[in-house]
Amino acid sequence: MTLAVLSDIHGNIAALEAVLADIDRRGISNIVNLGDSLSGPFDGLATAERLIALDLPTVSGNHDRQLVDRPKDQMGLWEAWVIDDLAPAHLDWIAALPDTAEAFGAFLCHGTPESDEENWLDRRGPGERLVARDLDGVLARDGGRRERLLLCGHTHTPRVVRLPGDRMVVNPGSVGCPAYLDSRMEPNFIHQTGAPDARYAIVEERDGRWSADLVAVPYDASEMAAMARAKGAESWAQAVSDGWFA
Ligand SMILES: [Fe+2]
Repeated sequence: MTLAVLSDIHGNIAALEAVLADIDRRGISNIVNLGDSLSGPFDGLATAERLIALDLPTVSGNHDRQLVDRPKDQMGLWEAWVIDDLAPAHLDWIAALPDTAEAFGAFLCHGTPESDEENWLDRRGPGERLVARDLDGVLARDGGRRERLLLCGHTHTPRVVRLPGDRMVVNPGSVGCPAYLDSRMEPNFIHQTGAPDARYAIVEERDGRWSADLVAVPYDASEMAAMARAKGAESWAQAVSDGWFA
């Protein structure tokens, strides 16, 4: 069993196409999506159409939920950038996504098994940066799940963690958003991968054990950067151009 794991596409259709081409080149046909699919200053409409047609096992992220759980004037900036581009059918698709799912023997969630906005494998560290949680911190957030392959996203930080009981948690990183400022808490914190590449993961079950490859795919992000600039999102344009938060 080989499975490609996507998360946090954030409307970046160019990054999504690059990842799908890479997956196709490797002959992988099983794909899952861990949410935060559309929100951001890129091309949420094209991303929605592509994802709806692909019909992948998909869970809802916090930014998906926030597209459908409040009136437009109460949405955050990431949703405000995309909401007017979407038709009712796209929002119906978002609204129908489950919070968690099981597919191909794996458990899928966006943040943790019990939250779409808590970080599972990372926590706030010194200097307004994310650092890896310790084992107790990861175990405390497993929601009692016993699947041997646990998949999460949300932090945009690719990471593989092994847990007791032959379990593995994989965060593939973000397909479409390699750097951002999180302004929900004070002080704000910065996440940056330092590479503009589209991230995803390939997990494989061999001889009864799961293994993971964290993949970074280079692609031409110039069109996405131009779309972000047109919406005044200069830091997103910078992020997809070089992977750093300006
Ligand atoms: Fe998220």
